[in-house]
Amino acid sequence: MRFPDGFLWGAATAAYQIEGAVAEDGRGPSIWDTFSHTPGAVLRGDTGDVACDHYHRWREDLDLLAGLGVGAYRFSVAWPRVVPAGSGPVNPAGLDFYERLVDGLLERGITPMLTLYHWDLPQALQEAGGWAERDTAEHFADYAAVVHARLGDRVPYWLTLNEPYCSAVVGHLEGRHAPGLRDERTAVTAVHHLLLAHGKAVAALRAGGVSGRVGITCNLTSVHPASDDPADVAAARRLDLHENRMYLDPLLRGAYPHDAAEHYAAVTDFAFVRDGDLEQIAAPLDFFGINYYERHHARADPGDPARGWQRVPPERPTVTGIGVHPEGLGEILDRVAKEYTSLPLVVTETGLALHDYTGPDGEIADDERIAFFDGHVRAAHDALTRGVPLIGFFPWSFMDNFEWASGYGVRYGMYYVDYPTQRRRPKRSAHWYAALIRANGLD
Ligand code: FCB
Repeated sequence: MRFPDGFLWGAATAAYQIEGAVAEDGRGPSIWDTFSHTPGAVLRGDTGDVACDHYHRWREDLDLLAGLGVGAYRFSVAWPRVVPAGSGPVNPAGLDFYERLVDGLLERGITPMLTLYHWDLPQALQEAGGWAERDTAEHFADYAAVVHARLGDRVPYWLTLNEPYCSAVVGHLEGRHAPGLRDERTAVTAVHHLLLAHGKAVAALRAGGVSGRVGITCNLTSVHPASDDPADVAAARRLDLHENRMYLDPLLRGAYPHDAAEHYAAVTDFAFVRDGDLEQIAAPLDFFGINYYERHHARADPGDPARGWQRVPPERPTVTGIGVHPEGLGEILDRVAKEYTSLPLVVTETGLALHDYTGPDGEIADDERIAFFDGHVRAAHDALTRGVPLIGFFPWSFMDNFEWASGYGVRYGMYYVDYPTQRRRPKRSAHWYAALIRANGLD
């Protein structure tokens, strides 16, 4: 099984999850600093204060990436390093860091893929209302222009947002992520302002003459009804609205889904949508990023038959409680390519959490992770053979890191990070992935 020449084999990380150095060189606080320091918010009270200390160890980390043989690296820029208060003065030292990183990648022959927002909203903007406030979208576009002015000549792939669903829903409805709110009206408002921020950032990048390709990354799920029962079918349709269509439809069709107004009528009338917003949100892109982790079977929720759903628990849950379903990746790629867009697609994340450890033989034998990636790479290849224009695949993650509300309690990396010493060691999956990249495929 071979992939096309030039297929982008990458690896992914995000700023707050790896950098540490949260108070260095003028970085301002973000909502994740505040949230992780809130008692009870993160498992064991872990924070990203030090994380993988990547801010100081980036050279060594880039060497490890080069050793893997990746053609591309997806990282994120921390908005509060570049514009510490979210709007207003720019911090050149923050830009210097990302410039060193980008140059370091290019020197090693690795293509940078830059995410502008991977959840670390400057705290000052949260205090002004955060994503519930329309102005935040404007500030994001200004920040995008600042990053582009410094790095635009060297970055071939730009992603505006990572997973607007998680920012909006996990952060504002479920309260499990920063800013830790639990209010559906605020969450739906945040969806719109995040998408608007994306649209305005695309416009800012275009106005700046961006030469790289511009996209966004959504986490998409594959949703099925648990049975033919019309109540389960309707529940699956609502779950699909909530998890997928609320993002795909505005971004790629320029309209909220036909059933959105009715579904959310109890919490909002969508008065936050202004003339021209949807045109801006649906501005043409150059590629579309997909993060895939979850496949769901939905059934009716007896406690909330009109609006609710229940996700049927997986038969064999992983340590994060979800199942392993490589076929879901194929379903999503097919759907996006058939129903939504002919844009090139990139799998910008997929991965498996484990409690990795060093065995008595000194090896970190993450065979389950290898099986996971093997299955998902095959699913991606099958999609290619069906004609899906997939151009890249980025495992989550390059190395173990701060896994948001789970802190350091679960590991996703191909490199093991021993946090007390900051030593990185390849797991078996790193060797497996390097071999896959060398062969540009699997046997
Ligand atoms: C995704 C996030 C990423 C990482 C993985 C496991 O939702 O984008 O930062 O935490 O999950």
